[in-house]
Amino acid sequence: MIIALDGPAASGKGTLAKKLAAHYGLGHLDTGALYRAVARDMIDAGKALDDEEAAAGIAQQIDPASLEDPELRTAETGAAASHVAKLKSVRAALVNYQRKFAERPGGAIVEGRDIGTVVCPGADVKIFIEASTKVRAERRHKELVEAGQDISYDEIHAQIAARDELDRSRTISPLVPAADALLLDTSDLGIEAAFKVAIELIETNR
Ligand code: C5P
Repeated sequence: MIIALDGPAASGKGTLAKKLAAHYGLGHLDTGALYRAVARDMIDAGKALDDEEAAAGIAQQIDPASLEDPELRTAETGAAASHVAKLKSVRAALVNYQRKFAERPGGAIVEGRDIGTVVCPGADVKIFIEASTKVRAERRHKELVEAGQDISYDEIHAQIAARDELDRSRTISPLVPAADALLLDTSDLGIEAAFKVAIELIETNR
């Protein structure tokens, strides 16, 4: 079974994807980490984020072992990721990687922005997560403060709103639910409640 899980920044899809992967025994790929890794490597190499040739070269050589780097989780890397994510050849290289992962025996849950629309349009179940900007900013702020980062709620709110705007308005693979995606609004749901609803959606639609 392939499950596509899409949604905006800090919508809770990462936590939900991990729980669903454990529940169903599926492989799990956080595709945002791939875009974050390209952004990190571009910054480390001193490249401008719109240098498409350099970014495409980096995207073709992603090292899966480097996806656990805590540096990927910073707000700065997230913001930089949405800039490299606009580049056509970066997306092409990373989509290749993602499709190979999704086709593994035993199935996978793949989370991102364009999984149901572009990466795995034939996924068995597509879920699109939503949550208000306020709730997402609160969640992400709590997470970053707990991880020891010194950043204000207002700054996080502004970053999330800016990232949403970039992700929704870009011409290639914008953040938009697939026509056959099931919508799950987690604004008023804790993780356990969201997990329960997701299981119900999967069981009735797989
Ligand atoms: O999900 P996460 O916040 O880690 O994603 C970081 C950025 O990577 C997003 O803001 C988006 O611009 C980009 N991304 C994307 N397509 C995906 C996953 C992430 O464009 N499938």
